[in-house]
Amino acid sequence: TESLTVAELAKKLNREPSEIIKKLFLLGVVATINQQLDKDAIELIASEYGVKVEEEVVIDQTDLETYFTEDREEDLEVRPPVVTIMGHVDHGKTTTLDSIRHTKVTAGEAGGITQHIGAYQVKIDGKKITFLDTPGHEAFTTMRARGAQVTDITVLVVAADDGVKPQTVEAINHAKAADVPIIVAVNKIDKPTANPERVMQELTEYGLIPEDWGGDTIYVPISALTGEGIDNLLEMILLVSEVEELKANPNRRALGSVIEARLDKGRGPVATLLVQNGTLHVGDPIVVGHTYGRVRAMVNDLGRRVKEAGPSTPVEITGLNDVPEAGDRFVVFEDEKTARQIGEARKQQAVQAHRNETARISLDTLFEQL
Ligand code: GTP
Ligand code: MG
Repeated sequence: TESLTVAELAKKLNREPSEIIKKLFLLGVVATINQQLDKDAIELIASEYGVKVEEEVVIDQTDLETYFTEDREEDLEVRPPVVTIMGHVDHGKTTTLDSIRHTKVTAGEAGGITQHIGAYQVKIDGKKITFLDTPGHEAFTTMRARGAQVTDITVLVVAADDGVKPQTVEAINHAKAADVPIIVAVNKIDKPTANPERVMQELTEYGLIPEDWGGDTIYVPISALTGEGIDNLLEMILLVSEVEELKANPNRRALGSVIEARLDKGRGPVATLLVQNGTLHVGDPIVVGHTYGRVRAMVNDLGRRVKEAGPSTPVEITGLNDVPEAGDRFVVFEDEKTARQIGEARKQQAVQAHRNETARISLDTLFEQL
């Protein structure tokens, strides 16, 4: 509350403006109803009515990234693409993710037990692709609301027997707003009622013109159920990835985003982080959103303990002193002291913001009751 008029303050205090004017006069201030009152005057009057004025909290919007300097062009190396799958309900997003995971992960990595950490990687001809398990819509809305952009490529799954539906359009809008390229996976082509041509026709209305028709959108017919076309889809993802020239500098302290986080009974706060630049190591002092700590242990998507994780790699970590939120940014610091200082400051801000939010709510309810 920077400044209020006498009328506004009277309203907040549930009093007549004339009463406030009288009080001010007794305090030696001559005021009219529309006069702006400064912070001190507001506090003084409020205290006369036993009301404490809450400081307006300015939540530090300084993004953690400001602690991160730009990379030099010559330090950048090619990194794997991070892919999210989007599409209408029941069009086959989960089945597609499972199909990719089963054909690639278990076959390629003998002995590895896939673990749910919210993301996984597959390797095709030595090239990696990272897939986020989070339904694309959620990933986009929650992540983007927090300023994190993690997706490089969107696979839009459209059931060939159902065509373009509301959430298909929503997905297109999300991807376009984030400027993320779209690959269309025309799914369920094993069904007799499948009509891939119709899907293409309908999608041209949204600017997704197939290459064959003079556009630049890649369409891949697949059956997530039988596995048909999955290899082709993966190849197309790698192709788009090359065009996008996705790069990062693996030889620096890590920066990235939280994919998901929870409190584990035995291990404490557990978070899946997506490394977006640099390399994350066990032992790194880290600030994550409004929390901080030191990376105690890291586990990859196969449930194996790892010591480091490079660009585009998802890892589950322990060692934070609180549970962060999906979409929170993380940055590794040089020393533990700095990480602790910055982490503590951010934690205080979060606590303060929460407290004020609660205070504001209770004050509002109070006024309603009066
Ligand atoms: P939500 O998470 O509810 O939005 O659905 P989803 O998009 O994840 O769809 P899901 O993978 O759960 O598939 C929905 C249904 O379609 C399931 O019964 C699948 O078995 C079936 N299905 C998925 N892909 C195919 C396919 O290629 N062919 C056939 N015939 N059925 C499929
Ligand atoms: Mg699903």
